[in-house]
Amino acid sequence: MDHDIDRILISRHRIAERVMELAAEIARTYAGDVEAGLTLVTILSGSLIFLSDLIRCLPLRMKIGLITVSSYKGTKPTPAAILQQLNTDVTGRHVLLVDDILDTGGTLRLVREQLVSAGPKSIRTCVLLRKPSKAPPDVPADFVGFDIEDVFVVGYGLDFNDHYRNLPDIAVLRPEVYAS
Ligand code: XMP
Repeated sequence: MDHDIDRILISRHRIAERVMELAAEIARTYAGDVEAGLTLVTILSGSLIFLSDLIRCLPLRMKIGLITVSSYKGTKPTPAAILQQLNTDVTGRHVLLVDDILDTGGTLRLVREQLVSAGPKSIRTCVLLRKPSKAPPDVPADFVGFDIEDVFVVGYGLDFNDHYRNLPDIAVLRPEVYAS
């Protein structure tokens, strides 16, 4: 697998540190208002590993919701589409949407629209990565792990054709891999 990788962009150690910092920020945000209940809604499949690390650093009472969205074919963006609807009721609850990467914003915009119609008490967004050169102003993120340049990244849950999710670091693929 290593020969497909051009370079490591963010090491596993830096990710672990930043996830702990994000969890502390999130815990401070919700600490004063736990009555309504908190649901972390995660967008599958790319956010799986991020979510599992994040929640183990979060000492808050919470539920987990899952929604599956497709938005990429290989390295090419396609219009975001919901493949599996949210599996839990978030009416009246605080919702923290958790996604792996905010790229063009199509995925988060679509999921947010769905959630609003369920009538949650609040919606905030947490992304591990954001591409600031592409993220549109109407799709804000409340918690951001890392701002990155506009390169296609894999690892730590992020995939190319469903591969490389198990890389512990976040890496840039060699262009030849997706050109072939
Ligand atoms: P949008 O463009 O909708 O993208 O903000 C969000 C979803 O697209 C996938 N995505 C990527 N996946 N490397 C990946 O492995 C990337 O560089 C990348 N950019 C976008 C991802 O599933 C994300 O949730």
